[in-house]
Amino acid sequence: MVLVAPSILSADFACLGEECKKLEKAGADWLHVDVMDGQFVPNLTIGPPVVRDLRRISGLVFDVHLMIEKPELLIPAFIDAGADLITVHAEACTHLHRVIHMIKDAGLKAGVALNPATSLANVEYILPDVDLVLIMSVNPGYGGQKFIPASLDKIRNLKHMLITSKSRAWLQVDGGINLEWGKEVVAAGADVLVAGSYIFTAADMQFAIKGLQELA
Ligand code: DX5
Ligand code: ZN
Repeated sequence: MVLVAPSILSADFACLGEECKKLEKAGADWLHVDVMDGQFVPNLTIGPPVVRDLRRISGLVFDVHLMIEKPELLIPAFIDAGADLITVHAEACTHLHRVIHMIKDAGLKAGVALNPATSLANVEYILPDVDLVLIMSVNPGYGGQKFIPASLDKIRNLKHMLITSKSRAWLQVDGGINLEWGKEVVAAGADVLVAGSYIFTAADMQFAIKGLQELA
């Protein structure tokens, strides 16, 4: 089964709570929360207070994607806010191993993300410690961008690394996912698909989510 994590970046922020309830009803597996700081990426989005308030109204797994510099400064606040899984960028962490264990020591799942131009070598020695590896298939910062086709080779290579190292980490892909690219990335080895604009512009959200889940 492919897990689908809709990104609320494409939601209507004027009624975010309702949008999250709609996703839950439509069969979403996780709720993907894109956190941006205007430094690591050229955009600003959601902080811990928003996650805390959404936590009250949603039972979904909160998959928090931190696109921020020095994530260790804000991780405690996102833990308190009720995140279930926190993913940090390898490019944003000088001490990645320490940051991953900061998340895991609090009892959460921890993930590591790579930008499109970042080599898989950057996660080789952290694979035994993480629950998820996120391959960015667009340059992070905005929803609605085009999938970068070179990501497919990277996904295949990562899948091979995960299998040979006997890792059970999820392989998540984020950026430009629709049904067509979804099919390709699942065939390449993805277990979790993040999709924002595809799900929020679909005529039938439930149908769009189900279509991605059934790519398995
Ligand atoms: C990009 C974010 C993604 C993005 C996905 O910076 O990390 O989660 O919102 O949106 P789509 O599916 O529209 O590319
Ligand atoms: Zn994301």
